[in-house]
Amino acid sequence: MTDIDIDIDTERIRQDFTILESGIIYMDTAATSLTPEPVLDAVLDYYRRYNANVGRGVHRLTRIATAEYEEARNKVAKFIGARAHEIVFTRNTTEGINMVASGLSMHKGDKVVISLLEHHSNLLPWLRAKRKFGMDIDIEVVKPANGDRKSCELDISDFEAAIDADTRIVAVSHVSNALGSILPIRAISKLCHANDALLLVDGAQSVPHLPVDVKELGCDFMAFSGHKMLAPTGIGALYIREELMPEIEPLNVGGGGVETASFVDYKLKGANEGFESGTPDISGAIGLGAAVDYLNAIGMENVKRKEEKLTKELIEGLQEIPGVELYGYDYDASSNKRIGTVSFNIDGKNPDDVALMLDNKAGIIVRSGHHCCMPLMNYLGIEGTVRASLYLYNTESEVNRLLELVRTIAASGR
Ligand code: ALA
Repeated sequence: MTDIDIDIDTERIRQDFTILESGIIYMDTAATSLTPEPVLDAVLDYYRRYNANVGRGVHRLTRIATAEYEEARNKVAKFIGARAHEIVFTRNTTEGINMVASGLSMHKGDKVVISLLEHHSNLLPWLRAKRKFGMDIDIEVVKPANGDRKSCELDISDFEAAIDADTRIVAVSHVSNALGSILPIRAISKLCHANDALLLVDGAQSVPHLPVDVKELGCDFMAFSGHKMLAPTGIGALYIREELMPEIEPLNVGGGGVETASFVDYKLKGANEGFESGTPDISGAIGLGAAVDYLNAIGMENVKRKEEKLTKELIEGLQEIPGVELYGYDYDASSNKRIGTVSFNIDGKNPDDVALMLDNKAGIIVRSGHHCCMPLMNYLGIEGTVRASLYLYNTESEVNRLLELVRTIAASGR
């Protein structure tokens, strides 16, 4: 047992996840989370009771649908400390980052700063922007100066060396999807402000797991996905600081987001509305609002503490198994440096084979491979890892079952 206090009734929570009745041990939340019944109910409720388009027309159904859709935006905004009109509904984190990378104007000599830990979704959009604006944009990748290849610890001094007066935007993950490491966003935002640079945070792996406040973090943009925080796939959100909205060219223009249109020109609506042309994923947004309600009822501090407890057990357990190599930070309760996304390899075993063995032998669902982080895998000198990622529905006995299996697999190869 550990000394981390938690106030969360896991057994009660698990009853909301019907898929768990099949007996699986689900540890792939970093790829996509499971969806609880109240969220499924909210999605079906839209189709069953008030199925209509939003922001169009005046009839009774559209009035209900629009009110529910906008209420979902309010909930999402409040969840991350933003204002409702600063939230643009997107398909996912990738779309949010693409909106900024393709919609922000850049000039010769501008620099984009990213980190070694970025998911392809926070790399390719910037490489494409570089193509689009010619080769005059620099992309600088922050890597650990101390060369520590195992923890991949990025210190604020590593960012100090990269962020300067030429920096147009810094685009970094809040939490690494491959290693679970938490980046020092507050300190990075101070550096950005001091250098008049913008800050985009990829919140895909932080918003579901930690209390997040965009104003407190001091970021200008934050992109995240619903499906990693109990909502359906196909819905996400992009926070854009109000003052910056006029500076971003929307990804799509068309129906819905327009103030006036003629055969010669058009004028888009202001704030979030100008970014949401086309019929949005209405039921998805309402589902995301319900997911926010679900997480709020538990409390994000509780979610975080519960994950910390399981993470400690998982990491300490893996460290004791001969032949297991862990990547990212060790568990350290005082430093707040990681979440429960844990990457490892077993000596002499292919990560995909290990993942298949875990599934076949015990129904343990983990991701294997490069986790859409090929440059990071190259840096680590590996093809991929086995990644177990924990969430509020996981239990101590599930962690123990995973450890038991890993021990058996590791011993079989020795
Ligand atoms: N970005 C998701 C992951 O890390 C898909 O698995």
